[in-house]
Amino acid sequence: MKNPVLKDYPHILLGADYNPEQWLHMPEVLEKDIQFWQEANMNSFSVGIFSWSVIEPEEGVYNFSHLDDVMDRAAEAGGKIVLATPSGARPHWLAQKYPEVLRVNERREKLLFGERHNHCFTSPVYREKVQNINRRLAERYKDHPALGIWHISNEYNGNCHCPLCQAAFREWLKKKYHNNLDELNRAWWSTFWSHTITDWEQIESPSSLGEYRVHGLNLDWMRFVSDQTIDFLKSELVPIREVTPDVPVTTNFTGFNHDINYWRAKEVLDVTSWDNYPSWHNDEEPACYVAAKTAMVHDMYRCFKNKPFFMMESTPSCVNWKPVNKLMRPGMNTLQAFQAISHGADGVMYFQFRKSRGGMEKFHGAVIDHVGHQDTRVYREVQSLGARLKGLDELVGVGTKSEVALVFDWENIWLFDDIAGYHNKERKYIPTCEKHYYPFWKNGISVDVLDMDGDFAPYKLVVMPMAYMLRPGVEEKIEAYVRGGGTIVFTYISGIVDENDLCYLGGWPGGRLKEVFGIWAEETDTLYPSDRNHVEVDGKIYTAVDYCDLIHLRGAKALGAYQEDFYAGRPALTVNGYGAGRAYYIAFRDTGDFLVDFYEKLMTELALVRNLQGELPENVTAQRRGDFIFLENFGENETVVPLHRTYKNYETNKVYPYECVLAPREVKILVEI
Ligand code: GLA
Ligand code: ZN
Repeated sequence: MKNPVLKDYPHILLGADYNPEQWLHMPEVLEKDIQFWQEANMNSFSVGIFSWSVIEPEEGVYNFSHLDDVMDRAAEAGGKIVLATPSGARPHWLAQKYPEVLRVNERREKLLFGERHNHCFTSPVYREKVQNINRRLAERYKDHPALGIWHISNEYNGNCHCPLCQAAFREWLKKKYHNNLDELNRAWWSTFWSHTITDWEQIESPSSLGEYRVHGLNLDWMRFVSDQTIDFLKSELVPIREVTPDVPVTTNFTGFNHDINYWRAKEVLDVTSWDNYPSWHNDEEPACYVAAKTAMVHDMYRCFKNKPFFMMESTPSCVNWKPVNKLMRPGMNTLQAFQAISHGADGVMYFQFRKSRGGMEKFHGAVIDHVGHQDTRVYREVQSLGARLKGLDELVGVGTKSEVALVFDWENIWLFDDIAGYHNKERKYIPTCEKHYYPFWKNGISVDVLDMDGDFAPYKLVVMPMAYMLRPGVEEKIEAYVRGGGTIVFTYISGIVDENDLCYLGGWPGGRLKEVFGIWAEETDTLYPSDRNHVEVDGKIYTAVDYCDLIHLRGAKALGAYQEDFYAGRPALTVNGYGAGRAYYIAFRDTGDFLVDFYEKLMTELALVRNLQGELPENVTAQRRGDFIFLENFGENETVVPLHRTYKNYETNKVYPYECVLAPREVKILVEI
């Protein structure tokens, strides 16, 4: 059952990005950092991320002394290093000597040296230089006791439209369409506007200067960019796997990055990790909602490989790149860390250990601030978190069991970003998935997050909001799942197109899903932001906003009806018994209340297991890993949590027979006794 990330290091990692290369001219600073780090109860540093210009100051000239130093000191202290390959930012000399490594944007403008992540993933020169420096790092540190895990590059993202990438895109298309332009033309529906392609060389990546309305092309381009980035990652790994075959590999992802389909990247990695920067305490959303959104991403990272992941970056106090960079309130840093752990993280890391003195991130939160000593609010909170984590070795590698799967698909993100129709500014695909996740978080029910290729069989309930595009095989999988006794929830705008964005003919949702759901959708009404309809379900009136599907029953039972407009009286919520299972269709978008009531009823009907028996107070959730139950209070008030059995506080051994009290932003770890 236990599946630890670092086989020989059974501790939760508490670490931070650390950039000693910025301080080499001040050795006294580096001296103190190691002491501060140890006294903060930290056990890890992520190093080397942006070190390339220091470790290879000129082509073929290497200097690893600062990395040697931090690796040796970490080893002496019994810690582990997360060692990065430096490809996230290249040195000046490399771009100067080999301009092909720089990107070309969609307007076909060659970019200058600057920023980071500005490199072509196709460039053979860039790939070769990266492999070279990676090999040197691997050879140097392969037997170093501090080497814990590889951190490949940094937050891969973006795309490049240079001639090398255009050629690679055409090759990718030739492979996909079996070297057959007719096949490609049909998939892209290119007779529309007379865009038939008669020569592969006519194909260009989408550009605002030319072709950008062929959705099949756009979708294939997104797939290509994602595949090409993953291919670059694979090429980075060649020397790493060769020289250090036993050292696990990760790369830091960024939530729902639009450039890479992480479901396809996960295969290449041993561990997934992500950089988590929620807007805690913002003035637009309630705290419980920010918490649930973040929880959903953690769940997805756990599910990528169905094992513990790392929160590779987070801030201990504030960021510097949001419109408003508010400080995290006392306790929030600890709660943020435990939230990640409770959803399956075995590592909690910060950006950054020591705050830069200059440059763009000099006002970004850090464990050690410019003041240069430990006597700060932020340092003390990190230190007490570290002390708590030291007592949690038993948790390392423990998994989570979920009866509910939420299906969230990357290719649907791309399509909802791109298609023309419905509401053209914001279709709210991700926020809709979050709204469907929230009722489970609120009730302390664990959820797995899958993409549509995932295995539905182990779940009692599959929730699949706005499943606009269905890839081949998904229709059949849904049918078999429901026939076999599963319960599925679909919403408006689902089953509309196939994997090439070609509409299903014969009514929505596509193919046999009309039988599974027992309905067909004829039209979708897109509402203006101030428009409202209403839906009555079980005698209660809910507000419908944004989208109302106009559906016909084909065997399903209507559970709710529209109240207004020309479709008043038509079904807005249906259920269909199919085989041994049930298929629900929610035809309208609501403001949130409906989803909570709807899912709470389903939770009872399906007898879904709650992580803590009974109802949870507002802003409090209960998450579970094995025997460990995490009670988390995201609210600003002290809150009493009623208990229906006796629990013990795992950390203090205190016994709670009837209730326990959570301070604002407090987390308690309970175990049953
Ligand atoms: C990203 C990067 C880090 C740093 C942080 C700041 O996550 O990976 O290098 O810039 O943002 O929040
Ligand atoms: Zn390129």
